[in-house]
Amino acid sequence: MDVPDTRDFVRALAADNAAFWTDRGVRLDAAAAPAVRLEQIRYRMRQGVYNELRSVELIAAWIPWVPEREIRELLPGQLDDEHRHYQLLRGRLRELGEDPDAYRPLPEWAALFDWLIACRTRPTLEKLAMFQFAGETQSCDGFETLIALASDVDPITGELYRSQILPDERRHAGIGRRALLLCDSPAAQARARAACHEMNERISAAYHAHRARVDTRA
Ligand SMILES: [Fe+2]
Ligand SMILES: [Fe+2]
Repeated sequence: MDVPDTRDFVRALAADNAAFWTDRGVRLDAAAAPAVRLEQIRYRMRQGVYNELRSVELIAAWIPWVPEREIRELLPGQLDDEHRHYQLLRGRLRELGEDPDAYRPLPEWAALFDWLIACRTRPTLEKLAMFQFAGETQSCDGFETLIALASDVDPITGELYRSQILPDERRHAGIGRRALLLCDSPAAQARARAACHEMNERISAAYHAHRARVDTRA
């Protein structure tokens, strides 16, 4: 059977993902006044506290449903990282005079994590294509934007993301790539591609619903 090199498959899928997000306009607003940018950064930190905690829950829910030992053994480390990120963001918000536990979950992100947790019985390649590969890659892009936009208005928070969160999230995206390298049949590759697309569509819908509901109010 003529199966393309799985590294070529992963590279092509990464390019597809990047193309999906080109010009979708879901990032922080670089042109906003410093005070607005600062509030947007704070907003995303509060949301980040929630997302990191749900990531802990998600990875814990998935681990028993990943039979491939070489992938499963990577996940407890990711769970530790997400828990550390949760605590780091809570600590930084406290330094800024906020109560990090005072905020209600945002419904768009709650629904996204509820759906991902319900996906725990799907094949490993689909799950990791969705969260680690598509989702974490998109998170890394979002963090890079946040770091750039925080450089003048909140450099301490920017440095926290740059030095203590982003490197871990890049490693998590790498776990997704590693899982996808196991996709050695056209059928497996098609399933992984469809799962990535499904995840990108859901993230995009959550961003836009959230932005329509909240950011226009700022
Ligand atoms: Fe994280
Ligand atoms: Fe992560």
